[in-house]
Amino acid sequence: MGNDGAPIWSIERNANSTSAQERARLLENPAFGRVFTDHMATIRYAEGRGWHDAKIGPRQSLALDPSTLVLHYAQEIFEGMKAYRLPDGGAALFRPEANARRFQHSARRLAMAPLPEALFLESVRELVRVDRDWIPAGEGSALYLRPFMIATEVLLGVKPSAEYLYGVIAAPVGAYFKGSSPAVTIWVSDTYTRAAPGGTGDAKCGGNYAASLAAQAEATREGCDQVVFLDAVERRWVEELGGMNVFFVFDDGSLQTPPLSGTILPGITRDSLITLARGMGLEVREAPYSIDDWQADAASGRLREAFACGTAAVVTPIGQVKGRRHAFTIGDGGAGAVTARLKAALLDIQQGRAPDAHGWMDRLF
Ligand code: PLP
Ligand code: COI
Repeated sequence: MGNDGAPIWSIERNANSTSAQERARLLENPAFGRVFTDHMATIRYAEGRGWHDAKIGPRQSLALDPSTLVLHYAQEIFEGMKAYRLPDGGAALFRPEANARRFQHSARRLAMAPLPEALFLESVRELVRVDRDWIPAGEGSALYLRPFMIATEVLLGVKPSAEYLYGVIAAPVGAYFKGSSPAVTIWVSDTYTRAAPGGTGDAKCGGNYAASLAAQAEATREGCDQVVFLDAVERRWVEELGGMNVFFVFDDGSLQTPPLSGTILPGITRDSLITLARGMGLEVREAPYSIDDWQADAASGRLREAFACGTAAVVTPIGQVKGRRHAFTIGDGGAGAVTARLKAALLDIQQGRAPDAHGWMDRLF
């Protein structure tokens, strides 16, 4: 323990680290989330003891007793963020404090111990420094960081765990959607919903993703890339995709995105794009938009563009929407000009090509 009660990091290098030659091969064209770095960060929590055993060590398997709470009642949360290679060879994180705060919000919703913001930031920064050679340099590439936390008490009683394991792993990534198409096709789920008022929709917990998989499988069967969910009460308002927020661009140049009603994830990319668009003089409304209006506006030409956004997906144009009651194309089905401009503005900041006017970049070295 340090003087202020915070754990001191122990750092153990992986004796079997990947060779420089093999790493170069793996970094050439990594699929999303299939290639991992040599190290991981971990911190443990126990009631009465607090956060302890902060480590950066070799990436390795976790041994869990079969009665560990997370395996039964899904007390689990995670984050997704990226470290970017900068033109001078340095590296930076994008708005990591926002991820730290959202992780605390998710922890509270799942009745877990909230990790202090400083520990979250140190864990991510230290891991990236140790695995610095794994940050890819190509356009749209980055080192994806996955902080997570699981309930580790060994017990079958249904109650908040008294012990937690927090960890961070890292994966070099390129584009999330691999296809050659300039825009994705999305499936409107009218069978399944993602989140109900009072539920966990605005927390980043594994359970939300488990619940989305049947709908995503339906989307895949229907030849679509992703699923878009409607609200659980009226089955009418567009909420978000399985792992991305959504924006609409109109013929008067204005943008609209569903409001943070408690049932969608407050995306950091969403928030950043609202700021960037307003900075370009564009009007942005956070207001509900119905699936029927989306179809009618696409047909009339009032709606010009739509895009999905998130850390993994960055900014991805939506070309077509399909469902049991819907089928329409947006614009010419490709990438629109406003979407392309916002994507470029965001990536230029993240990859260090444009001035960081909002103080979003957290330089690591
Ligand atoms: N919505 C969901 C359900 C997500 O999983 C994500 C990805 O993290 C987002 C939205 C976008 O959030 P962010 O921009 O913070 O990555
Ligand atoms: C992210 O964008 O970080 C996510 O967690 C979404 C997921 C689809 C990978």
